[in-house]
Amino acid sequence: MYNIAVFVSGGGSNLQAIIDACQAGKLNAAVCLVISNNKNAFALQRAAAAKIPNYHLTTEPEILATLAKYQPDIIFLAGYLKKITPAILAQYDVYNIHPALLPKYGGKGMYGIHVHTAVLAANEPETGITIHKIDAEYDKGVIIAQKKIPTLPHDTPETLAARVLQHENTFIVEVIAELTKD
Ligand code: GAR
Repeated sequence: MYNIAVFVSGGGSNLQAIIDACQAGKLNAAVCLVISNNKNAFALQRAAAAKIPNYHLTTEPEILATLAKYQPDIIFLAGYLKKITPAILAQYDVYNIHPALLPKYGGKGMYGIHVHTAVLAANEPETGITIHKIDAEYDKGVIIAQKKIPTLPHDTPETLAARVLQHENTFIVEVIAELTKD
């Protein structure tokens, strides 16, 4: 059984998908801890509703101490918009979900709606989802899995974001199933 710590900043639909899959017995895993840099993140309410320990933390010492207490096997960043520090990366395997086909549309400032705005501005026929290991540079770690999603002629950044997010909610569970299968 894998213990997963999920880091979040916003709505937490991907967190919810992971929680639901764990509770349904679809994953050999449990969410042992949720950490947010944003105290108003709806994701924290989702964690509380599922009775999962959840914390609003902003400093590295607090985050390290909390991780040491809950001992996760892996950390998953599911819409976490703050940089992970080297001290955390030195001790834990950290994965991230990104709403585009990296290495395109990654890097500083490329998060959430900004990604989808840039994809449409470049008239890309397709976009997608990338799940990758995190290393010290933004969006630069080893790619674990990608899924392509076509853009549509009448897409706006909002319609594209919503469609990609829907796919993320199933893809993240499929990839975590692979990561936790042994
Ligand atoms: C997701 O689209 C995720 O890929 C993105 O934030 C959203 C969070 O949604 N992450 C990034 O842009 C990171 N660079 P959620 O809170 O509903 O899971």
